[in-house]
Amino acid sequence: MGTKLPKGAIKPRPAVVAMAPYSPPTAGRADKLRLDFNENTVGCSPHVITALKERLGAGRLAVYPEYGEAKEAIAAYFHVQPDQFTFTNGTDEAIQVFVNTYVDDGQEVLLLKPSYAMYRFYAEVAGAKISEIRYPPPGMEFPLQHVLDAITPRTRAIMLANPNNPTGTGVSLLGIERILHRARKAVVMVDEAYYEFSGVTALTEIERVPNLFVCRTFSKVFGMAAMRLGCLFSHEVNIAFLRKAQSPYSVNSLAVEAAQAAVEDKAYIHSYVAEVLAARELLCLGLEKLGIRYVPSSANFVLGDFGKRAIEVRDALRGRGILVRDRSYEAPGCVRITVGTRAQTRRMLAALSEVWKK
Ligand SMILES: Cc1ncc(COP(=O)(O)O)c(C=O)c1O
Repeated sequence: MGTKLPKGAIKPRPAVVAMAPYSPPTAGRADKLRLDFNENTVGCSPHVITALKERLGAGRLAVYPEYGEAKEAIAAYFHVQPDQFTFTNGTDEAIQVFVNTYVDDGQEVLLLKPSYAMYRFYAEVAGAKISEIRYPPPGMEFPLQHVLDAITPRTRAIMLANPNNPTGTGVSLLGIERILHRARKAVVMVDEAYYEFSGVTALTEIERVPNLFVCRTFSKVFGMAAMRLGCLFSHEVNIAFLRKAQSPYSVNSLAVEAAQAAVEDKAYIHSYVAEVLAARELLCLGLEKLGIRYVPSSANFVLGDFGKRAIEVRDALRGRGILVRDRSYEAPGCVRITVGTRAQTRRMLAALSEVWKK
């Protein structure tokens, strides 16, 4: 598609014109071993499917969503009150609503890089002035001191992922608290999409710290990326403002009903997390044996350094039916590999070893 406007067309806002288009490489993944998007590689709890089948009917589909019952159940799961969070259409809508509520054109937003692309995306749409702190290679540890130094009275919002995608590295709760304290005049969003694999959370602090926002997703460990459901948590007063800026029905009924069934099956989540943690060890050992450097991860993926062969490795694995994500455009030489089960990891390592030794 060209960008030249046809005669009579209206030019969009400058912030949108200036943006690079974002196109996720999401076609033709269904029959492959998908180690490219950090999803749950075996899918959601069977209880979710049963609940969806039971509830799917013409009568229910005709009615606009009512969130009350699911809200109670999910609040209890996260140990918060129902008015301390809002359902969102994936984390992506959480980021969008957060930015729409707090960031005006020209205001300063502090991000890290490389990180999840949607923080920059929505900050750009808002016309924010963005500054980015680098995760330093090769260890990619969270650059806490640099973040603290970069916070100024003009900083309006900070968005970070803990653990971070694609580095897999995290920051301690103490580190988050230092950021929140230094950025008392800013809103701070901590995206905990991979919390279950790291065990570090700031969710316990939302009542006490009024500039803190935390988001979680049902797209990763819960295996429900297609449903598009996230939760954005904060002090109840903040949530009331966020709700004003949010479309009232952005989340569909089936998504919340599925989530309600998902949180009832805690055993499924615990056993998947245990499997992934064991598989992550296996993957790291395998990479070491092949002499491939990697960043120690506290999430369900590992960033490996394949040097000049990053794209070649990604393509050769794809040729063997295994998808991994090239990140060399933002972390030179790096490919991100999602961790699923041990069996899947063994298959991936066998293919990688063939490719790597060539
Ligand atoms: C840090 C982070 N947050 C959020 C998401 C996606 O969340 P959702 O599917 O809920 O929009 C991802 C997906 O890759 C991610 O890495």
